Amino acid sequence: MMSIESGKRVSGFKESVTLKLNAQAVGLAKEGHEVFNLTAGQLPFKPDQDLVDKILRECNFLSSFQYAPVPGNNDLREKILKKFYTDNENIKTDLGCIISNGAKQSISNILCALLDPGDEVIIFTPYWVSYRPLIELFGGIVKEVESDFFDGFQPELEGLKKLISSKTKAVIVNSPSNPSGVIYSDEWMDEFSKIMKSNPQTVIISDEIYRDLNYYDPRPRYFYHYLPELVERTLIVNGISKSMASTGLRIGWVIGPKNFVGTLSKLQGQLTSGANSLVQSALNEYDFDRVEDYLEPVKKHLRENLKILRDKFKNNGLSHKWYQSRGAFYFILDFNKLPIHQKLSNGDNDTSDYGAEICEYILKEKGVACVPGGDFGLRNCARISLVSNQSEFSEAVDRLVEVITSETRVN
Ligand SMILES: Cc1ncc(COP(=O)(O)O)c(C=O)c1O
Repeated sequence: MMSIESGKRVSGFKESVTLKLNAQAVGLAKEGHEVFNLTAGQLPFKPDQDLVDKILRECNFLSSFQYAPVPGNNDLREKILKKFYTDNENIKTDLGCIISNGAKQSISNILCALLDPGDEVIIFTPYWVSYRPLIELFGGIVKEVESDFFDGFQPELEGLKKLISSKTKAVIVNSPSNPSGVIYSDEWMDEFSKIMKSNPQTVIISDEIYRDLNYYDPRPRYFYHYLPELVERTLIVNGISKSMASTGLRIGWVIGPKNFVGTLSKLQGQLTSGANSLVQSALNEYDFDRVEDYLEPVKKHLRENLKILRDKFKNNGLSHKWYQSRGAFYFILDFNKLPIHQKLSNGDNDTSDYGAEICEYILKEKGVACVPGGDFGLRNCARISLVSNQSEFSEAVDRLVEVITSETRVN
């Protein structure tokens, strides 16, 4: 059969290892195997019933089924901005807002509108899987500032100072971070703001999709809390996917300088048109202050799973193999030097990345699915999601501990 060749821009796209592992997990479950899926990037709960009711009510109106304004429902954009100014009292700049089909589209729009071929974009490892392919899709060049277990996943800002130059079009900051679950410290944000002040050519993209998902007080702080004038070249991304347990409703937004929000709107008008009318109307009626109450039991659940993990890892001498997460849904597990790594690699001097092989092995042997760190820029690690219900999570951690510490190879 004839096949269709893709264009150069996407021919380098790799199959996502995450999706591959997910497919294997689903396949095993279908064959009747017991599978513990620790790959989830979404809450296994329904959203606040009040939001569900508002969506049902809005189904009665014709306008809910018709095109929304390209940049989004005007009242909803105002409401999102009002909440932003309430949450960030030090910001007085008059900003704009555009609503898109999820934060992923918001980020894609930004990169498409911002980048010329050869522009550099700095990201911090470990990073969200989509940053790299999206930057490259729009002709950008990825530059990485690394961080690891030893610096508690707070990226070394000396590294940023060395990399940032007149070629740096943008820096992406994601705190709380997917995949590490780390919240960058106040000192980090303060220092970062100073570096950005002395690099006025660079736009900052602040991906705050997990902003409300801090497990402990205080809430995360951002660089523009230290230097408010930075909002004049900052694009803040957020949405309802994570904090309102609504990944499938596809609503995200960008808050930023009005002229650039206008450019994003022109782009969105040609690419996709306005986002889902029905959900936007329902959100316009919904009281955003309810989110905090909705998230209280969710955060308790995540803290309890963290405790299970902390206790079991401690009891098995594995405390140094993960780093305490403080937000989002995840933590990173380090396979380096564990028996499972020794079994699947060629020993201590082998520095290749065996994350994918190790995760496949864990899935086959113990039915536990986790995401290898390669796509996040981390070698011999995995991202593990904390969202499953407690008994499932507890059993999954037991199995994980057994397989990563076992000296015997099953096959
Ligand atoms: C860091 C980060 N940014 C953006 C997104 C995209 O969110 P959305 O589902 O709203 O497109 C995700 C989703 O996993 C994410 O983890």
